[in-house]
Amino acid sequence: MKLIRRSLVLGALLTTAFGGLLVLLVGQSVDFRTPSVDLRPLVSTESAGETVSLPQRKFEWQARTPHPLDLKYPYPYPFLLNHPNKCEGPRGAPFLLMLVMTRPQDVGVRQAIRKTWGNETLVPGVVICRLFVLGLPPPLFTKELHALLEEEDREHGDLLQVGLLDTYHNLTLKVLMGLEWMAQYCPSAHYVLKVDSDVFLNPSFLVQQVLQPNGPPRPNFITGYIYSNTGPLRNPAYKWYVPPELYSPDKYPPYCGGPGYVLSGSLALRVLTVAQTLKVIYLEDVFVGLCLQQLGVRPTPSPPKTFQMFPLKYEHCFFHQLALVHQFQAQELLRIWPDFQRVNTTCPMA
Ligand SMILES: *[C@@H]1O[C@H](CO)[C@@H](O)[C@H](O)[C@H]1NC(C)=O
Ligand SMILES: *[C@@H]1O[C@H](CO)[C@@H](O)[C@H](O)[C@H]1NC(C)=O
Ligand SMILES: *[C@@H]1O[C@H](CO)[C@@H](O)[C@H](O)[C@H]1NC(C)=O
Repeated sequence: MKLIRRSLVLGALLTTAFGGLLVLLVGQSVDFRTPSVDLRPLVSTESAGETVSLPQRKFEWQARTPHPLDLKYPYPYPFLLNHPNKCEGPRGAPFLLMLVMTRPQDVGVRQAIRKTWGNETLVPGVVICRLFVLGLPPPLFTKELHALLEEEDREHGDLLQVGLLDTYHNLTLKVLMGLEWMAQYCPSAHYVLKVDSDVFLNPSFLVQQVLQPNGPPRPNFITGYIYSNTGPLRNPAYKWYVPPELYSPDKYPPYCGGPGYVLSGSLALRVLTVAQTLKVIYLEDVFVGLCLQQLGVRPTPSPPKTFQMFPLKYEHCFFHQLALVHQFQAQELLRIWPDFQRVNTTCPMA
C-alpha cells in the first residue's frame, strides 16, 4: 500500500511538473531516443501469413501545419525496453496477449495488476502473455525513473517501453506501438486485449465466456462496450475535445470503449495496417473505430453488462459474471482480490 501511495504522489508530482515542461519544450525539437537503440522497421513484413504493408503516407504529417494535437504516425518510435521472445514460450502461441497501458511512474499499479488480474497463469490450460506498455516520463525524470524501470523489468520481464512521451494525448501511439510489437514478435496470438490499468478484469470470464477457447476462429471479431451514434465534442472545455481540423465529420463510427476491448489477432494486424494510412487522432478507442470502418468490420456485441465503463461497487457474484469494470483503483483491487478468488457456491449459476 505504501508503495502504491508513494507512486501516486510521485505521479502527481510528475504530472504537475510535466505541464510546465511542456511549455518550455514546445518548439524545440527534443529527441528522447537513446543512441544505442536499434531502429527497427515500423512493422515487420515477414510476420507469419499476414501482409502488413509499410506506410504509404509516412511523411504526410510533416507537410501540414501541425495542430498541437497532431500525432506523428507512422514513425519509427523505438522499443527501449523490449522482450522479443516473451511470446514464444514452451506452451506455444498465446491465446490471449494482454497489452496493459500504464504510465512509467505507476510502479505500484503494475505490481497490483501482476498479483491480481494480470497473472498469466490464472486461467488453467490457457496461455496468456502480459506486457505493460509505457512511454517516456517527462524529460526531467527520465534519469531517475530509468534505473527503477530497468530494475522492475529485470525482475518481471514484462515492460515494453516505447520511445515517445507518455501523455494522455499520445495514448493512441502507445496502443499502436503495442500492436506493432504484436505484429513483429507475436503475430500468432489468437486474441489481443487492450486494457487500461485502472480497471478490474475477470480473465476467466473474458476467456471462457467471451472468447471461448474451443470455438471457431473469428477473424473479424472485436468486442467491448460498444459506443454507437456518438460524435466529436467541439467545445474546447471538454477533455475529449476534437477540433474539426483533426476530425471533420460530425459522427464517429461505432467503437469499443477504451478501458478494455479485445480483438482477434488477425483483425489486430489489419487494424494496424490501415492505421498506417489514416490520420491518427488522440482518442484511441475512436481511432480504432475509424480503422474498423475502413476495414468494413463492425464490433460484435457482448452480453449486456459484460464491459462496465462506469464505477461499480464490488459484489462477488456479480463480478464473476462480467469481464471488466472501469475505474477500479489498485488498492481496491488488492483488497477485493482474495474474496474474488474464493469459490462461492451460493452464486446463482449463469
Ligand atoms: C498466479 O496464479 C497462480 C494460480 O492461481 C498462483 O499459483 C500464483 O501464485 C499467482 N502468481 C502471482 C504473482 O500472484
Ligand atoms: C507525443 O510524443 C512525441 C514523441 O515523444 C512528443 O514529441 C509529443 O510532444 C507528444 N505529443 C503529445 C500531444 O503529448
Ligand atoms: C458468497 O457470495 C455472497 C453474495 O455476494 C455473499 O453474501 C457470501 O458471503 C459469499 N460467501 C462466501 C463463502 O464467500
